[in-house]
Amino acid sequence: MTDLKQALQEQADNVEDVLDGLLAVPEGPESRLVEAMRYSALGGGKRVRPFLVCASASLFGVSEDSALRVAAALEMVHCYSLIHDDLPAMDDDDLRRGRATCHIEYDEATAILAGDALLTRAFEVLADEDTHADPKVRCKLVSELAKASGMAGMVGGQMIDLLAESRDLDIAEITRLQRLKTGALIVFACKAGAILGKSQDVKLQALRNYGHDLGLAFQIADDLLDVEASVEETGKQVGKDADRGKATFVSLLGVERAREQAQILSDQACKHLDVFDRGTDLLRAMARYVVNRRS
Ligand code: IPE
Ligand code: IPE
Ligand code: MG
Ligand code: MG
Ligand code: MG
Repeated sequence: MTDLKQALQEQADNVEDVLDGLLAVPEGPESRLVEAMRYSALGGGKRVRPFLVCASASLFGVSEDSALRVAAALEMVHCYSLIHDDLPAMDDDDLRRGRATCHIEYDEATAILAGDALLTRAFEVLADEDTHADPKVRCKLVSELAKASGMAGMVGGQMIDLLAESRDLDIAEITRLQRLKTGALIVFACKAGAILGKSQDVKLQALRNYGHDLGLAFQIADDLLDVEASVEETGKQVGKDADRGKATFVSLLGVERAREQAQILSDQACKHLDVFDRGTDLLRAMARYVVNRRS
């Protein structure tokens, strides 16, 4: 676990530097927009998705610079999703990563724009030739991240999630919702290294399957933290899902069974990595961390 913590911290520092460089503040009044983007993208978060990009890329000997640019692009999409998730029209949260949410620190309109601009900046970064010399690889990254972020991925999941406040969902429906809203970006993170490394199908598929199980385990753990953890631990308000009457794995199965389910998914995620001869220790440690984390 210490090794994982250290590796997670190192990758977080690296991706922070890359994000810092990619979000340079311009002259002029639009600087307010970039300051809001930087406020939400820099200086916080566990950086799990960037870690997954870099860990999967390391299996294929991909250059660190390429992996970090993809990691930074994905983290921009994630940070945009958090800014919009926190808006009054959505979860209406005032605390994120231990600080005021973007719309509280700035204002609602600026937060919407900061989210929009993080999303579009991410694709600009992926499409740039500094990300990978081969245009086919860049195209694949753009298309896969677009699918994972949009109507068939995170945004689609967020739509169902909002409906889950006013409607009871069964376990299959909640599973689908969580795979979309959280799982899709995590699957992209795991596949990204294989795409950058032009890997064979079987390895790409193994990483996709690892991400598929990990992503669901990750969101079940998030729902458990909402019930069991403190504001100090998570850096965000807790007890929100129950307050809003939101259907989650925990509301449906109870704490114990939800925890068991997350553990089963974590174990299953690791099994998919058996196709690799070596180099998967950190990804396996990450699968354990995701279900045992306190933040
Ligand atoms: C929170 O994601 C939103 C979910 C998809 C559950 P993280 O738990 O990865 O949040 P940060 O990036 O560490 O703040
Ligand atoms: C958010 O899920 C998932 C996103 C796509 C941002 P939650 O609404 O449960 O995330 P938190 O608990 O606010 O971080
Ligand atoms: Mg939400
Ligand atoms: Mg939320
Ligand atoms: Mg949550």
